[in-house]
Amino acid sequence: MTINPKFPFFLHGGDYNPDQWRHVPGTVDQDFRLFPLAGVNSLSVGIFSWAAIEPEEGRYDFGWLDDIMDRAAERGMAIVLATPSGAKPNWMAQKYPEIRRQNPDGWCVEPTQELQAGRHNHCLTSPVYRAKVRQINEALAGRYGRHPALAFWHLSNEYNGQCQCPLCMQAFRDWLKAKYKTLEAMNQAWWTGFWSHTFTDWNQIVTIDTTVDGLAVDWKRFLSDQTADFIRNEAEPIRRLSPGVPITTNLMGFYEGLDYVRIAREIDVVSWDNYPQYHERPGETENLASWTGLCHDYMRSLKPGKPFLMMESSPGPVNWWHHNRLLRPGQHRMKSLQAVAHGSDSVQYFQIRKGRGGAEKFHGAVIDHLGTENTRMFREVAQVGRDLEALRPVVGSTVQAKVALIFDRESDWQLKAANGPLDALKNGYAQTVAAHYRPFWKRGIAVDVVDADAPLDGYGLVVAPSLFMLRDGFAERVGSFVSNGGTFVATWLTGIVGPTGLCFGGGFPGPLRKLLGIWAEEIDYLYDDERNSVEFAEGNALGLGAGSFGTSLVCDLIHAEGAKVVATYGRDFYAGMPALTVNRFGKGEAWYLATRGDAALLDALHGALARKLALPRAIETDMPEGVAANLRIGEGGERFIFVTNFAGEPRSVELGEGSFSNLLDGGAAVSGKLELPPFGVAVLAQ
Ligand code: GLA
Ligand code: ZN
Repeated sequence: MTINPKFPFFLHGGDYNPDQWRHVPGTVDQDFRLFPLAGVNSLSVGIFSWAAIEPEEGRYDFGWLDDIMDRAAERGMAIVLATPSGAKPNWMAQKYPEIRRQNPDGWCVEPTQELQAGRHNHCLTSPVYRAKVRQINEALAGRYGRHPALAFWHLSNEYNGQCQCPLCMQAFRDWLKAKYKTLEAMNQAWWTGFWSHTFTDWNQIVTIDTTVDGLAVDWKRFLSDQTADFIRNEAEPIRRLSPGVPITTNLMGFYEGLDYVRIAREIDVVSWDNYPQYHERPGETENLASWTGLCHDYMRSLKPGKPFLMMESSPGPVNWWHHNRLLRPGQHRMKSLQAVAHGSDSVQYFQIRKGRGGAEKFHGAVIDHLGTENTRMFREVAQVGRDLEALRPVVGSTVQAKVALIFDRESDWQLKAANGPLDALKNGYAQTVAAHYRPFWKRGIAVDVVDADAPLDGYGLVVAPSLFMLRDGFAERVGSFVSNGGTFVATWLTGIVGPTGLCFGGGFPGPLRKLLGIWAEEIDYLYDDERNSVEFAEGNALGLGAGSFGTSLVCDLIHAEGAKVVATYGRDFYAGMPALTVNRFGKGEAWYLATRGDAALLDALHGALARKLALPRAIETDMPEGVAANLRIGEGGERFIFVTNFAGEPRSVELGEGSFSNLLDGGAAVSGKLELPPFGVAVLAQ
């Protein structure tokens, strides 16, 4: 199903800021001459254009935008039209100081920046700002809501950050009142008897006290809810005046400031901004390719079963890494098509034309300062344009996963908010999840990345690495998933706290103890250079031969309480205690890996489970190092296999049975072996 049937092609284009060029006649003419040469068929406009659209309060200037919209319509191009709330104009900040973002002392968030600087610098709560946003959105939706070029609404830009002005503090207190009803309930939930933190009046809650971890996590939940509420306010005039045009907002992958599951409910289509540093660490492409695949899958899974949009990516280096090295020839195409392989129905850029000034004048662009098509990156972009044309049959096809990998933002917040248990873990949760993703990525097995509230029906395997916080009802849901025949994998540091951060009494992993059939009594944290091992004996339940794997950092000391011991620790005073267990539960199995495990152990574990459960793979044969295979499936069952060589050297890929046609090579027939040049991509239709 295409996400927008009116525009049944891959969007190829991106952020375009003609408003910054109004004083340079001829620029827009030149750009529209270049677009077809680059295969650009879509433009994201208006993103930071408030000052251009409303130069003074209530006076609108739509002339320049009318021109862009009409030119696009004449050419059958798609417009992604933004609301401008990501950066407010100076006149507004001057006239209505309450709309400025503040920290709790009444300073602006970055005191050195004075009171109006940068972007994303508005209060999320201010009724004045919300009214202003609604007004301008109403004007935009009224004027362009049914315009033939309009394909998507792009709300604001990368919602992020926090405001702690008195209005936001009051809104937070109201949110807490609605959640807890009484101070007593809140005090208990937050364990405020500690250090005399007991609240006796709602107005005492004025700031983020990081020593009350329940408060710190609720503040983050509130920020997500408040942002969602801000979005609803933005979206209202659009839904009313522009019915049927899908709404999106560009997300930021593993950005930790918002619970994206919460935000995704407010939008119709997921989009995100993808900036992997492929050219930064040539020796580490496989890590980065797998990590980027995970980011795409995490974003895609916010609306499972649907394509998403890659709203931004950089044609060339960005300007914000410590070292902005050039993309090697072919890498632009490789990373663009990687997004498509994971389910994107677009390759969009920041930015189309490089500005001559401002904070992003050195950021990659389709049209460089030179101003013409005679650049290497322009040619590489044009190649992607041709590729996307050749891939038209792929539009609307989806990624279908039998594996759910749980990444739970609230659990991440709880771990970060807790003092202890180990500093090195605080920012390591996403990396832990990535380590469990890698074995599936390597095997071409599709994975959905969902939170612990997601429905589990339809999956064969659910992997929940280090799920520190358990939501209410999770144990029951995963319990029924397993009793109906599902396989569940949990790992160290699971089931330690509940939703308000209170540790479970009665033994870890809390409510999962029975399902997993183990009790985790203590947790050992190893020094960085310390190692332990995980020993498998002949005839173990995983079906591996006898052998030993390395492990580091964390070792749970567990007791089997009904679970079968599959492997044991090799060293230290807990040598011989269980390191991997499996518990038969109803028709399914629940596995517990008590220690972090080296990549080889995770690979052996998930590889064995994948074989046992016969998880579907894009290609049945193993890929050589640095090559990934991804499968998109069309509505009529058509299979599109993306084979991508992330390595800087040629690779030869065994395709096994069957013959294919390579859509990126004029439909040429391929069977047996596929030869890929460095950074080469093939899309095999079957
Ligand atoms: C983000 C923003 C863009 C731009 C790019 C630069 O993704 O959304 O406006 O600043 O970063 O990489
Ligand atoms: Zn505020």
